[in-house]
Amino acid sequence: MGGKGFFDKVYGVEGADETRALYDDWADSYEDDVAEQGYATPMRLARALAAQSHDLSRPILDFGCGTGLSGGALVQAGFTAIDGADLSSEMLARAREKEIYRDLRVIEADGPLPFAPGDYAAVAAIGVIGSGAAPIAVFDRIMDTLGPGCLFGFSFNDHTLAEPEYEARVTAALDGGQAKLLVSEYGDHLPGLNMKSRIYVLEKK
Ligand SMILES: C[S@@+](CC[C@H](N)C(=O)[O-])C[C@H]1O[C@@H](n2cnc3c(N)ncnc32)[C@H](O)[C@@H]1O
Repeated sequence: MGGKGFFDKVYGVEGADETRALYDDWADSYEDDVAEQGYATPMRLARALAAQSHDLSRPILDFGCGTGLSGGALVQAGFTAIDGADLSSEMLARAREKEIYRDLRVIEADGPLPFAPGDYAAVAAIGVIGSGAAPIAVFDRIMDTLGPGCLFGFSFNDHTLAEPEYEARVTAALDGGQAKLLVSEYGDHLPGLNMKSRIYVLEKK
C-alpha cells in the first residue's frame, strides 16, 4: 500500500489492535508520507512546549513517539532528555535508529502508563490522541497521572475536533481545576491534505 492508502485508512481505524497493526504496516513509509504532506504539528507543538518550559534539560516523555519525528522536533526545540513510548514496535524500531531517545518502550493500550507522577517535567502526545490514533480515555489517564506543575502538550487534528467529546474533555479538565491552559493554537497539520490541528499546552495543578 502506498502513502495515500494509509491516509485513507488511518482515520477509520478502531481499537488498539487495529491501530497497532496499521502503524506496524505504515512504519516503513510513514516519515516520507507525512513529510510529503508537510506534517507541521510536531514542530509547532515542540516549540510551544519549549517556550513554556523552565528547563529544557529536565526529562520529557514523547508519548506515542512513532518513528521519532516528534522526538526530532523536541530535539530541535532544545529538549535534551527525551524518552519515548508507543504501541507499535515497528514504529519504535525506526525511532530507535535515530539515537535521540534516552529510553524507548513498547506499551499496551490498556496496560500501565509508562510513567509515574513526578517522573517527567513534560509529556508530549503529538498526533496521538483522537481520530487516527488513541481514544480520549488516554487523555484522561495521562491527565490523572501527571504530577503537579507538569506540562502536557497534545494536538487534535480536524477529524478529532469534529468530534465534540475530545474538546469537551479538555474543557472539563480546565473547568474542574485539574489543569491550567497555557497554549491553544489552531494551525497547519498536514497542509498537503488541507488538514489543520489545534495544539494545546496544559499545566497540571
Ligand atoms: C500519527 S502517529 C504520530 C507519531 C509521532 N508522534 C509523530 O508525530 O510522528 C500516532 C502514533 O500513536 C501511536 N498510538 C496510537 N494509540 C496509542 C496508544 N493508545 N498509546 C500509545 N501510542 C499510541 C501509534 O502507534 C502511532 O505511532
